[in-house]
Amino acid sequence: MSVMRTVMETVARVMPAKEPDPLLDKSGGYLGQPLRRVDGHAKVTGQARFTADVALDHLAHAVLVHSTIAKGRIVRIDASAAERAPGFIALISHENAPKLKAPHLINVMNTRTGFAASDLPTMQDDVVHWDGQAVAVVVAETLEQAEHAASLVHVEYEADTPKVSFEELKATAVVSDEIFGEPAEVTVGDAEKALAQAEVAIDRVYRTPWENHNAIELHATVAAWNDDDTVTVFDSTQFINGYKHLLAEVFNLTPTNVRVLAGFVGGGFGGKAAFWTNTVLCAAAAKIVKRPVKLVLSREGVYRIVGGRSLTEQRVQLGATKDGQFTALIHTGLTVTPAHARYAEQCTFPPRHLYAAENIFVGQKIVDLDVVANTWMRAPGESVGGYALESAIDELAYELNVDPIELRRRNEPKKDPTKGTEFSSRHLLEAYDQGAERFGWAKRDPRPRSQRDGKWLIGQGVATAYYPVYRFPATVRLRLSADGAVLVQAVANEIGGGTATVQIQQVADRMGVPIDNVRFQYGDSDLPDSSIAAGGSSQTGSIAAALQATVEKVHRQLLSLASANSESPLAKAKYDQIEARDAGLFLKDDRSKGQTYEAILRAAGQDAIEIEAAAAQPMETMQYSMASYGAQFCEVRVNEVSGEVRVARWLGSFDCGRILNPKTAISQFRGGIIMGIGMALSEETVFDERRGRIVNRSLAEYHVPVNLDIPDIQVIYTNIPDEHAPLGARGVGEIGITGVAAAVANAVFHATGKRVRDLPITLDKLLM
Ligand code: MOS
Repeated sequence: MSVMRTVMETVARVMPAKEPDPLLDKSGGYLGQPLRRVDGHAKVTGQARFTADVALDHLAHAVLVHSTIAKGRIVRIDASAAERAPGFIALISHENAPKLKAPHLINVMNTRTGFAASDLPTMQDDVVHWDGQAVAVVVAETLEQAEHAASLVHVEYEADTPKVSFEELKATAVVSDEIFGEPAEVTVGDAEKALAQAEVAIDRVYRTPWENHNAIELHATVAAWNDDDTVTVFDSTQFINGYKHLLAEVFNLTPTNVRVLAGFVGGGFGGKAAFWTNTVLCAAAAKIVKRPVKLVLSREGVYRIVGGRSLTEQRVQLGATKDGQFTALIHTGLTVTPAHARYAEQCTFPPRHLYAAENIFVGQKIVDLDVVANTWMRAPGESVGGYALESAIDELAYELNVDPIELRRRNEPKKDPTKGTEFSSRHLLEAYDQGAERFGWAKRDPRPRSQRDGKWLIGQGVATAYYPVYRFPATVRLRLSADGAVLVQAVANEIGGGTATVQIQQVADRMGVPIDNVRFQYGDSDLPDSSIAAGGSSQTGSIAAALQATVEKVHRQLLSLASANSESPLAKAKYDQIEARDAGLFLKDDRSKGQTYEAILRAAGQDAIEIEAAAAQPMETMQYSMASYGAQFCEVRVNEVSGEVRVARWLGSFDCGRILNPKTAISQFRGGIIMGIGMALSEETVFDERRGRIVNRSLAEYHVPVNLDIPDIQVIYTNIPDEHAPLGARGVGEIGITGVAAAVANAVFHATGKRVRDLPITLDKLLM
């Protein structure tokens, strides 16, 4: 894997510079406008159809039976009572499940075929690997009947002692092979030596808890087998084509015989990107009962068979000169990855790219436990890694008696400190300056516990937000009709971010047509493959790059049609002499000369043209250090008597390249910040370290923020286009959550003088 990467990096370095995109910083079009979501009306009026809404004739309902032990064997499944229950159709277990192959884990060099969270075969033997694993599926005529019958299934186990205590097993941690194609350990200079010699040093350990996914839409599947042994699967997945390939792999089908549909997804956050057993079990149940089957997990079911964020234990050591130049940065972390999974929560990614320390060591180890596979959750490692790193920076700032923004300014790197490459575009300090100005940072008394309002202690905190740029290969198809209608098709999906809206804005600008002429069709694996639909904040850029290539091909094709007609004002025009506007192509240097698309197509006797094209390989992310950045500012009020923390003010100041649609982008930033406030103050999976069971498997006991927890959130952004990113835009979906927990912890310290180094910052940790 690393050899491949070296080859690609070498290729990337010698790549010729590409043509600048005329749309990169063009103003006056639809891009940059705060347009409403094209799917907003359908969503608020209830017309948008989500997976659980899919109604098919003769549909049966499935409910899972979960293991109550974390390790061992199933000795006996007694279904006799369930079989007598009304509406019962079938019980599927390892004793009668169809033969299912094990799905493959993530391979960063090839993500096109998707990736399973775990490579255990589903329901093929009697072995239990974690508490909550599905041990049987009950199918009945109605959901209620399936739930009732499932409650009557009695399973006997032979239990082994599970490995479930992180505390007991962390000494057995091993360095992970790689983390998303990056080495688990990176060394620059000699950080240990520099730390020992540093004028000022800090050494701190930070902990973050397990967290679970709580998208409003539960993981849902409707599977229907057809007579010719093809299968149609509606699923709440973030990765439509990945699921197509994985279902084909598991059921031993050719991928073209599997169709996966996900028109709307009610939140994903990473929890619907990897392939989970619910989708396999629904399709297997439908095969056995020879009817379409719907399987919607219960909220508890999501906790039991879908993984979440690994807990982390991170140590940050910083060495600096008295005037605050970093001489050593050491950031190490432990996370959990069970043996049947391959994903190490990348909590040590931020320190690889943020500060100009001469000596750096970052390293990650993983601990194997008998738990459900861990997975991605909005800015997976960057959010928890940033909490540790950005808390430590704040701690050092107090140690040095330097303003925390000033400390960051003194250590802003000119090049990527571990990769050695240039930044594609980095205006983090401008984001800090603009944020500080708007927030009124200069008015803050820097002394801890210096501000109060009655019983409320008041503090302000700041932290850096960081999330890397990912782009994946994508293909799109564009159909231009003589009446001026433009249809764009890509397998892509809409998990709530505004993808469809932004792509339509882009197409209208590139084609020079009114936005109402453009339709974007997505959410269906029969459409052109756009790789991972929604993950790594990559979808907008990945599709944008493919659309740029496709529209260029469309325009070249139209020019060649025009050149066949000597009367055409475009007959001799070259591609670089034309521009698209007024629903046609016109000469750049003589704006009166050109033809509408309609005229070109009619003259050529064509009703439409249809072109499919792929984007160039995403070399830019290897050539440059590419990331979205931001500065999070917050004010908290801490009740001196009860320890209660209220977030009173928030300002996020972001540097994510060009903002394509302020309305949808700001909504993404705000959503990320809200999720970050949850990480800071309330989210925590309570895990029983004796039995390996998640205790708080419901929204009643797992606390995400509600409206009253969230103040008005202000968002500003630099809006400086990144010339190396499609449309000048870097991702905005995940950056919002990063830096939030650290900003809160730093503000809590400023308010109270008490540093909390383990999340969430609940009131018990603040009672003096
Ligand atoms: Mo995101 S955690 O890559 O869906």
